[in-house]
Amino acid sequence: MTSIATEFARQNQSRFLEELKSLLRIPSVSTLPEHKSDVRRAAEVLAAELARIGMENVRLIETAGHPLVYADWLHAPGKPTALLYGHYDVQPPDPLDEWLSPPFEPTERNGNLYARGAVDDKGQMYMHVKALESLLAAGKALPLNVRVILEGEEEVGGEGIAAFVASHPPELQADFALVSDTEMFAPGLPTLCVGLRGMIYTEIEVRGAKTDLHSGMYGGAAPNPFVALAQIIAKLKDHSGKILIPGIYDNIVPPSSEELAAWQSLPFDEEHYRQTEVGSRELVGEAGYSVLERTWARPTLDVHGMPGGFIGAGAKTVIPAKATAKVSIRLVPAMTPAETFARYRDYIQHIAPPGVDVDVRLIHSGDPCLIPVDNPYIQAATAALHEVWGKETVFIRSGGSIPIVGDFARHLKLPSVMMGFGLPDDNLHAPNEKFLISNFYQGIESIIRFLEIVGEPARS
Ligand code: BES
Ligand code: MN
Ligand code: MN
Repeated sequence: MTSIATEFARQNQSRFLEELKSLLRIPSVSTLPEHKSDVRRAAEVLAAELARIGMENVRLIETAGHPLVYADWLHAPGKPTALLYGHYDVQPPDPLDEWLSPPFEPTERNGNLYARGAVDDKGQMYMHVKALESLLAAGKALPLNVRVILEGEEEVGGEGIAAFVASHPPELQADFALVSDTEMFAPGLPTLCVGLRGMIYTEIEVRGAKTDLHSGMYGGAAPNPFVALAQIIAKLKDHSGKILIPGIYDNIVPPSSEELAAWQSLPFDEEHYRQTEVGSRELVGEAGYSVLERTWARPTLDVHGMPGGFIGAGAKTVIPAKATAKVSIRLVPAMTPAETFARYRDYIQHIAPPGVDVDVRLIHSGDPCLIPVDNPYIQAATAALHEVWGKETVFIRSGGSIPIVGDFARHLKLPSVMMGFGLPDDNLHAPNEKFLISNFYQGIESIIRFLEIVGEPARS
């Protein structure tokens, strides 16, 4: 069925796309202090847009970090309330020279829109805003009650929204959350994501001498923190990808045999994945587990960077006084960040070589989540996706993390419907991030129909 709101969305597609481009021109990189005012400007633009389309009680909510944007429309008594979540912050754009067009100058190529944040998550978050606009324009009312909460620090751990959700449940009271920050399993294949990994993001700092030293004069007698750090890192994982931290696998609840069987029937070609998505000579990881199991249902440990020492062009003969490494562990149900971090920290102290001091710091963390699928909102989402895409929905997990989804479940008792329209080759967090423009449009239509179906009289 093509609703009046859907018609409105179709007629306004090119305007919606131009507005998204304006939003993408704002470099709202949450992790870089020099972009603090850009992050706020993105929040202000979104708040103004939410007010313009007819949402109410629009406001910025200050946090210790970047602001939240809140809006609601609560004039559908007896109907369910949706909590629409998205994030307007983006990852840093580096390495800049690998972008074919500048990251903050959105550019159309081959039916895609290229820009940092195109799919993660400005483009997807903006589908919610444009679905609300279409519904309000078509009917002067929404088919259900809606609250909108947008955050500007998802990419740096989301501490601000976590604190707000924990301390203000009544202000976010709802029946379910809608999150569009995940991917479709394959182009044209409607997908609901029902599980995410959690994570602990840490920094290991190793200190040796009291100051940087001449490596000729002191090399052989002074401890080298980089070598010590390398020795530590080398003991975190073995060659088969198994994490060597004692007890780390103790609390894992494996996927059910039904879920594993469903993953078996997904259209997944490991060789195609290796070549086109990863582009490495071989895939690595734990023996005995498929790639989907390794990335969705097993914990993994990765090193993101090792700042410190001399990294300029040419050579400098120095023994640095300290070395650091940024290391994260992805968690699966029912691992907890607290217990995982404690085991990790204790193990590192235990394996630290002589002559250095080691600090292990937790930067941020988030719980893994698994969404029960036997609720009416997942059913409504499946019905809406079937109408718009003409196919049965597949249920997948993702290896990524969206920390707030776990908090919605814990503090607000909300199931989340994770209806995302990214594609596996969208280059999230990488150069040439993109969003398929037709997915932007069909995503808006899917969200319109989903909200309409949830608000239908039979359901209230
Ligand atoms: N949208 C992603 C998470 C994601 C990616 C889910 C792909 C499903 C498929 C999100 O913006 C993200 O990047 N999260 C970070 C969270 C972290 C910084 C706490 C992540 O997963 O690294
Ligand atoms: Mn995201
Ligand atoms: Mn991201």
